[in-house]
Amino acid sequence: MISISPSVLAADFANLERDVRAVEAAGADMLHLDVMDGHFVPNISFGMPVIAAIRKVTGLFLDVHIMISEPQRYLEDLARAGADGITFHVEVQGDPEETIRRIRSLGMRPGLALSPDTPAEAVLPYLEQLDLLLVMTVVPGFGGQKFRQDMCPKIETVAARARQLGLDRLTIQVDGGIGRETAPLCARAGAGCMVAGSAIFGKEDYRAEMEAIRAACAGA
Ligand code: DX5
Ligand code: ZN
Repeated sequence: MISISPSVLAADFANLERDVRAVEAAGADMLHLDVMDGHFVPNISFGMPVIAAIRKVTGLFLDVHIMISEPQRYLEDLARAGADGITFHVEVQGDPEETIRRIRSLGMRPGLALSPDTPAEAVLPYLEQLDLLLVMTVVPGFGGQKFRQDMCPKIETVAARARQLGLDRLTIQVDGGIGRETAPLCARAGAGCMVAGSAIFGKEDYRAEMEAIRAACAGA
């Protein structure tokens, strides 16, 4: 069974509480929050005050994807804001092992992401220390981009290594252009958690969309 993490980036920011409650009531497994710094990626989204505000209106696991150059600078603030999991990029500054350790010591679940141009080999050494591995299926920075099917072999490589190591705890997540057509391709390659922004928040009926994604993956 796959899990779904709707990306708030595609929600209505003037009605965040309404949208977050609606997606929770519709059966979301967690909530994906994209923090962008305008430096690691050429876009700025939202930060701690928005995460803290969302924390107040939902019990969902807050799956925070940080697209920022210096993750270590913000880990304490993210924990204080109520993040449950932090996924940072392997391409950024700092020793990934140390960042993973600090995330865990702050009581959060560590995740590591890799952008489309980064090979699987860059993250394989860290799999045993992680709860989540995020394979980006678009170049990070913007919602609504086209799914990169050429990322499926990378998902397969990571999934094969995780199986080899017996890592039952590790979730492989995908993010970017995910919807009912593309999610099954990722599920077949070994992904267990689907991040979807525009595919969910762009629809009237969040529940119907998430059920369609789950149904499409069930046969994968
Ligand atoms: C992109 C973000 C994604 C984004 C996905 O950098 O990491 O989480 O919200 O949006 P969709 O699902 O619309 O591609
Ligand atoms: Zn994301």
